[in-house]
Amino acid sequence: MPGYTTLEQINAASDELEAALGDWQRPAAYGMGVATKGPSGDILDVWYPQPNLATNAFVPAALATATGYRSGTETFEMTAEQVDQFIEICAPAESYAAVPHPNLAAARVMRSMLDAEPPLGGERLVVASFIGSLDDAPINPIDSYLRLHLLSTRLVAPHGVSVEGIFGKLTNVVWTNLGPFEVEGFELKRGQLRAMGHNVVVNGVDKFPRMLDYVTPSGVRIADGGRVRLGAHLAEGTTVMHNGFCNFNAGTLGTSMVEGRISAGVVVGDGSDVGGGASIMGTLSGGGTEVISVGKDCLIGAQGGIGISLGDNCIVAAGCYVTAGTLVTTPDGTVVKAKELSGHDGLMYIQNSQTGAVEARARKSGSSWQGLNQDLHKN
Ligand SMILES: CC(C)(COP(=O)(O)OP(=O)(O)OC[C@H]1O[C@@H](n2cnc3c(N)ncnc32)[C@H](O)[C@@H]1OP(=O)(O)O)[C@@H](O)C(=O)NCCC(=O)NCCS
Repeated sequence: MPGYTTLEQINAASDELEAALGDWQRPAAYGMGVATKGPSGDILDVWYPQPNLATNAFVPAALATATGYRSGTETFEMTAEQVDQFIEICAPAESYAAVPHPNLAAARVMRSMLDAEPPLGGERLVVASFIGSLDDAPINPIDSYLRLHLLSTRLVAPHGVSVEGIFGKLTNVVWTNLGPFEVEGFELKRGQLRAMGHNVVVNGVDKFPRMLDYVTPSGVRIADGGRVRLGAHLAEGTTVMHNGFCNFNAGTLGTSMVEGRISAGVVVGDGSDVGGGASIMGTLSGGGTEVISVGKDCLIGAQGGIGISLGDNCIVAAGCYVTAGTLVTTPDGTVVKAKELSGHDGLMYIQNSQTGAVEARARKSGSSWQGLNQDLHKN
């Protein structure tokens, strides 16, 4: 097929593809990935080299043509012929060099992986996943992994795509230096791998892999890859130190220093610092129902913690833990539950070392906290 040399030709090809699909609806997000299927048939992981929001019609329509997708949230295990068909449909667009073609490059890499040695933990598959609406709940592991990739590649911010019930959709997996393995039968497998001369390092047994084994976002530093789960959203300029932690569907929106814990669902604003050993309560186990956020230019001091949201320009003193029910003395002397102050700007929370009372003071200009050290965030 001759190449398309103008955008008009690509648009015409796109219209033709969509017309041939008939009654189809462009998805909100989609991607092709490489999955590992364990011996019992469970999907252990999926790597999506190029997840997408459906900002154009051509590529999702090409993938729908190859897979038979028409609408809604659906996943497909693709045959090699379907992958070839997708590549064939997209290849003429390469002649138009003004736009990049990352999906085509990724599809070629994935196609070559089908001819390579299978992974040690099971079978290798190329899969396709379509999310009809970002509000649709995850339907299976293939779909769940696309959502985690959308978050970690920063195509969507935390809470930008539904992850409702995702724990129930993901498989618990033995994550090793040799890839993912099923938990059932792993000891025997470990012996077989050793007999083959492999040094087996188990990084964890979990439903979520380490983010860096799947996505490497630009402009971030992560001192210990085991501390950031796939599905974390780390903005440019974020530094996660060795004891920092970031869960899935959570993370930073701008430059941040993370030396404490960002629990699932928590969002930290630009210019904020989560100090060493600090804790931000999540909603998964024993936390409240409020999704906690930290505004811009905040400091949660070392070993401090919050179960309420902070507005902009707030400080929680080192060692001061403010839960939703903590009774706090406000600047005018009244005592309120901390949840009443949730989201307020410009407050400094301290635990008075003389009285033990937790106090919220209006922030003053002469504080020792004057924002992040910018040199630490030129990542
Ligand atoms: C809360 C904090 C920011 C206050 O620092 P600051 O803004 O420089 O303020 P100061 O220490 O000058 O304190 C202001 C006033 O409050 C008083 N104060 C501060 N902490 C107090 C406490 N826990 N109990 C009673 N009074 C306290 C000070 O004595 C001072 O009183 P003064 O005005 O009469 O002199 C600081 O104590 C803190 O906890 N920083 C955390 C740093 C950190 O952990 N970073 C992360 C590293 S990983």
